[in-house]
Amino acid sequence: MVRSMQLEDIEQVYRLGNLLNKNFSKTMNLAQILEDSFTRVLVYEKNGKILGFIMYTELEESIDILNIYVKEEYRHQKIASNLLDMMFSTMKDTVKLMTLEVRKDNKSAISLYQKFGFEIVHVRRKYYGDMDAYLMGRRLEK
Ligand SMILES: CC(C)(COP(=O)(O)OP(=O)(O)OC[C@H]1O[C@@H](n2cnc3c(N)ncnc32)[C@H](O)[C@@H]1OP(=O)(O)O)[C@@H](O)C(=O)NCCC(=O)NCCS
Repeated sequence: MVRSMQLEDIEQVYRLGNLLNKNFSKTMNLAQILEDSFTRVLVYEKNGKILGFIMYTELEESIDILNIYVKEEYRHQKIASNLLDMMFSTMKDTVKLMTLEVRKDNKSAISLYQKFGFEIVHVRRKYYGDMDAYLMGRRLEK
């Protein structure tokens, strides 16, 4: 099931986040994020185990996806899609624009986001040091 991250999930989310980015636990303060009304973390949990998470900031009119990660052995089971579905179904109805950056060579993530209506709008050169990023966006018609 997909739900909001709780205090007791923090350790598991750090572990997953570090697999995505080795500096995750150094740069993210998840306890503080729990108190922050703009940053949301949704987790996919099964039998007490966190198998994936999505982190994003949500302002009045925009959402920026910061991270999405699914444990390698649980991929291709629509866990990321479930996380995105929950983000869409719980977001404020005033949100008009969604954005994210993704490594240009990350075909699986690009394909996932395209399935959810995101388009490549810009290339951010050397965004990841060695690698360009695509800025992807989706406008929501109201
Ligand atoms: C990208 C990622 C989150 C996808 O998670 P997932 O749970 O396997 O994704 P889903 O099962 O919901 O897949 C949904 C769609 O995404 C795309 N997709 C997912 N994995 C893919 C792959 N290996 N190759 C191509 N497309 C892929 C497909 O369009 C897929 O739809 P389909 O199953 O109908 O073909 C996962 O591969 C991951 O954690 N990668 C490492 C972290 C990462 O790169 N995060 C994104 C940048 S922050």
